Amino acid sequence: MSRENFGSKIGAILAAAGSAVGLGNVWRFPIETGENGGAAFIIVYVACIIVLGLPIMISEFLIGRYAHTNTAGAFRIASNGSPWKWVGRLGVFTGWFILCYYIVVGAWTLHYAFLSATNAFYDVDAKQYVDIFNGFVQNPWIPTVWLVCFVVFIHFVITRGVQSGIERSAKVMMPALFVITLALTVCSVSLPGASRGIEFLLKPDWSKVDSNVVLQAMGQAFYSLSLAMGCLCTYASYFDHRTPLAKSAVNVAMIDTGIAIMAGFIIFPSVFNIGMTPDDIGIGASLTFISLPNVFQQAFGNGSILAVIVSTMFYSLLFVAALTSAISLHEVATAYVSEEFAWSRKKAATLVTSTIMVLGILCSLSFGPLCSVTLFGRNIFELFDDFSGMVLLPIGGMLISIFAGWVLNRKLYHDELSNYGTLRVRYYRLLTFSLRYVAPVAIGMVFLDQLGVFDFLK
Ligand code: PFF
Repeated sequence: MSRENFGSKIGAILAAAGSAVGLGNVWRFPIETGENGGAAFIIVYVACIIVLGLPIMISEFLIGRYAHTNTAGAFRIASNGSPWKWVGRLGVFTGWFILCYYIVVGAWTLHYAFLSATNAFYDVDAKQYVDIFNGFVQNPWIPTVWLVCFVVFIHFVITRGVQSGIERSAKVMMPALFVITLALTVCSVSLPGASRGIEFLLKPDWSKVDSNVVLQAMGQAFYSLSLAMGCLCTYASYFDHRTPLAKSAVNVAMIDTGIAIMAGFIIFPSVFNIGMTPDDIGIGASLTFISLPNVFQQAFGNGSILAVIVSTMFYSLLFVAALTSAISLHEVATAYVSEEFAWSRKKAATLVTSTIMVLGILCSLSFGPLCSVTLFGRNIFELFDDFSGMVLLPIGGMLISIFAGWVLNRKLYHDELSNYGTLRVRYYRLLTFSLRYVAPVAIGMVFLDQLGVFDFLK
């Protein structure tokens, strides 16, 4: 069967960067940075990216590009059918599983973009923002309608194929995302008192960097680069044989980290401008959907046209970031079903879309009508989120690094990395060292930390 490739190097990099740049860049990275030592945290984070993230990203690229097939097939081919093929299947499952809850939040960004654009936050007081958010997520219908819109959008892009769907949308959406981020950064840093926000974000404070912070940086680096979910492996299967893998990985990591740091420049100057402190704003959903709409209204003039524009641009930014990531997750599962079961792309995409729609709606309803359905004290959404983040991702990451470091044929590894001898590879031994020793141990520690084993030992 003939298989599509990305049509250009830039298209390939933008698509992979689209996968990496997501909600995590905005709702976790900036606040983690500010609270954990500013520039000191950024240095630790970048070190984690270099030592841990890049070797695994390069390995995923290499396995995908070598096999030119979906992630499950790629690991089967790269492992010669040994039990290591299960690592690929695990990646596909993880990607699909994450998608089920990721689309819920993607849908929320659409609703908030709509509220912002219609000036619905005019004259709303701090407490009402909580009520607006709770009222929205508890409603059985409205989040579901947005979720269906979000998923239909993804489905449309995926069914158009690799070049006219994924690549073309990345070529439009990633530059748009970059322009919006830049514009918002300029607006925020020109506010009076912005320097205190910048100082909070960047002032290095090494006293805050302890082992917990390092583990947090590793976990964030891992999630942010979309590792161990089959995304990068699947996208790399559409790279052509001239794409330089290591260089592309470095580009993706730089775009991802750059956007994450700029998100901090959007958030903190506005927060300090209105006299709030980072402790007041929370993290994750409460930061994004309760604190920030309030912050933007107050900083840019309650109900003013500027506030409407800034707020609408911010949620559009989140929407595009979430969408490009969700597309990459959908592609993992679609490529798997279509290639492993010889289904047409359309039929495979329809199956994936239907399953994520059903499970996504269940996750979405778990804030409202299904809130009493819990296990281990978590609702359905939290179960999806925690199980993938705390169990599937670390196990997948560890297995990929062990596979790439110890099991994968060294000649194959070197050949792919050097594009069959056309590129010089000076970092080969460092890469292998990281994959063999550093990454498995480091990820193992993040895993135990997330499960609370270290707290328990203390
Ligand atoms: N890496 C993206 C982020 O930082 O939000 C999100 C993401 C994309 C997570 C793809 C998981 C994934 F498989």
